[in-house]
Amino acid sequence: MSRRLLVTHALPYANGPLHLGHMLGYIQTDIWVRAQRMMGNEVYFVAADDAHGTPIMLAAEKAGLSPEAFIEGIRASHEADFAAFHFSYDNYYTTHSDENRELASLIYTRLRDSGYIAKRSIQQLFDPDKLMFLPDRYIKGTCPKCGTPDQYGDNCENCGATYAPTDLINPYSVVSGATPVLRDSEHYFFELGKFETLLRDWFGGKLTHGAPVANPGVVAKLKEWLDGGLKDWDISRDAPYFGFPIPDAPGKFFYVWLDAPVGYLASFLNLCNKAGLKFDDFLAPDSDAEMHHFIGKDIINFHGLFWPAMLHGAKLRTPTALHVNGYLTVNGAKMSKSRGTFIQARTYLDAGLHPEFLRYYFAAMLSDTPVDVDLDLKAFEERVNSHLIGKWVNIASRTAGFVHKFFDGRLAAQFSEEQNELWRVLISHYEGVPALYQSGEFAEAMRRFVLIADLVNGHIAAKAPWAMAKNEDQREELHQVCSFSLAAFRLLGGLLKPVLPVTVEAAEQFLAAPIADFDSACATLHNHTIRAFEPLLSRIDPKHIEAMVEASKESMGTTPEPESAAKNPAKKDSQPMTENTAAATQDTATIGIDDFAKLDLRVGKVLACEFVDGSDKLLRFELDAGSLGKRQIFSGIRAAYAEPEKLIGRNVVFIANLAPRKMRFGLSEGMILSAGDGGSDLFLLDADNGAKPGATVR
Ligand code: 2FM
Ligand code: ZN
Repeated sequence: MSRRLLVTHALPYANGPLHLGHMLGYIQTDIWVRAQRMMGNEVYFVAADDAHGTPIMLAAEKAGLSPEAFIEGIRASHEADFAAFHFSYDNYYTTHSDENRELASLIYTRLRDSGYIAKRSIQQLFDPDKLMFLPDRYIKGTCPKCGTPDQYGDNCENCGATYAPTDLINPYSVVSGATPVLRDSEHYFFELGKFETLLRDWFGGKLTHGAPVANPGVVAKLKEWLDGGLKDWDISRDAPYFGFPIPDAPGKFFYVWLDAPVGYLASFLNLCNKAGLKFDDFLAPDSDAEMHHFIGKDIINFHGLFWPAMLHGAKLRTPTALHVNGYLTVNGAKMSKSRGTFIQARTYLDAGLHPEFLRYYFAAMLSDTPVDVDLDLKAFEERVNSHLIGKWVNIASRTAGFVHKFFDGRLAAQFSEEQNELWRVLISHYEGVPALYQSGEFAEAMRRFVLIADLVNGHIAAKAPWAMAKNEDQREELHQVCSFSLAAFRLLGGLLKPVLPVTVEAAEQFLAAPIADFDSACATLHNHTIRAFEPLLSRIDPKHIEAMVEASKESMGTTPEPESAAKNPAKKDSQPMTENTAAATQDTATIGIDDFAKLDLRVGKVLACEFVDGSDKLLRFELDAGSLGKRQIFSGIRAAYAEPEKLIGRNVVFIANLAPRKMRFGLSEGMILSAGDGGSDLFLLDADNGAKPGATVR
């Protein structure tokens, strides 16, 4: 009986281009969806851009755009990439939509009315210049444990210590450089602890007729969190915030992680409205449809704790299953901009690499467990060339010509006895393939592909049709070998279709035999007439891989890599959870443009400049910094400028977002740039006349 499925993958943040790390889980989802369709199931595959939150608000501001315009631009780039990699969405949407606003409000209201929302005041660090509360990742300071400067507000990258941002020594706001102050604010909390029984039932498969809701390791992790105690989840944020206002709470917004998963439903609702589907058929608590979420292992807690509880509390159905993938490494290491392995989806395509090759490589690496997947670029080249071209396409390219030359494009009326026997073996290997797709064991399915292909190629090698073709007496045998090979080529096409949808479609054209489902690929094609063979794929030229790596070095920094939210549910009652952040931690051999962009360089007009009593090194500057106001900066260039008053009126260049430093003589609010070796060999950098105070140096 055909099943009905609603399928989603994690929603990419609308703050930068997609990279191959994104593509791993997304390609996994598309392959699974396509396989489900080939099994005859009714599938709705929906996704969206995750458009809200502080990082997106600040990124838009930095780009000089409204958040709405900013997210639209990103969405267009995401959709173009998804289309190029052949994603088969039924709907791609945005979380910044009317449907999502309504559904998020509805879910919140139902939770509130059922008594699952608590309000209480919390203390949080506030940026007094920018007038906003600061998520942990927007506060930096000196690690309270090891003394390393410039550490984030939630953990130290040097010693690994975790702490509250209030523990940092000399904290500063990453947004403005100001020293944050503690402020009270009323927050709204989702009382997750009230859902313990529900969650235990859900983990135990009680709501899914005994079917596991995730891989056993994932379920064990969820139980561990649950056993550790469920704390309330802070679902509100204060203005300014790019998100949806909480209906009954002026100045408060839903935290991005509240409306993000609701975005799955909103994308589906949008589809329902367009396609005449009934939303309730899928979302009502007693729905017999399935709801599957594909996610990365970093967001298990959101999908395995908060999300089922929210759905249940709002009188909607819970998910059928979470399918969790690991992280992507490239050449055995974390993706790195300096090594050129932080690869954007677009860079891969622009280098001339075939989108389906990446789909195949990932399929050959993916299983049902959330282990990390390594994209080894050499193995990628070798595997694609050997498997897809060497083992598959070559079956057709070595046999189709003879069918046209000697048999008018018509396949034989029957196989030989030996071939009938071999065909049964091939089918026995093929038969388990849909179940492997169903259970997410794609790597095993691809091993079946190689196994079947090797058997077919072994048959071709043993029969040597190219030798038979020279001998008039062997026409019938030649006909059977080629026909058998082409039927097997099509069988392999059926196996590969969820992975290589476009190339298999071209193969279907060539064979004049569509592959509608897994079963139909098993036809023997006796007496069937094929069309002319056109080369389906060409081998990877390693130059393309080199070009991709080089271009990834060049495109450094065009991708602010969002880190996912803090994943530790234990933290969630004290501070709002960390959001995605634009700060990437990459290796430091060279810096990317995004590292450079962290510097807020500005033009400052010198209003005053004077010696500093008690210092033989410093000059005190007062700068007009335009929209940033006035800045006092102490600069160690006294030896180079004997007459400081002559500097008044110059347009110097200074770092505006350096953390302010308390000096014996007063507060220094930035750093003025000069060139030279130091001492008297220092020369102020100037901006030409016309540069306005406060102008950004790019
Ligand atoms: O971690 C992330 O990248 C989030 N944007 C995923 C959201 S998934 C869903 F909940 F919307
Ligand atoms: Zn430390």
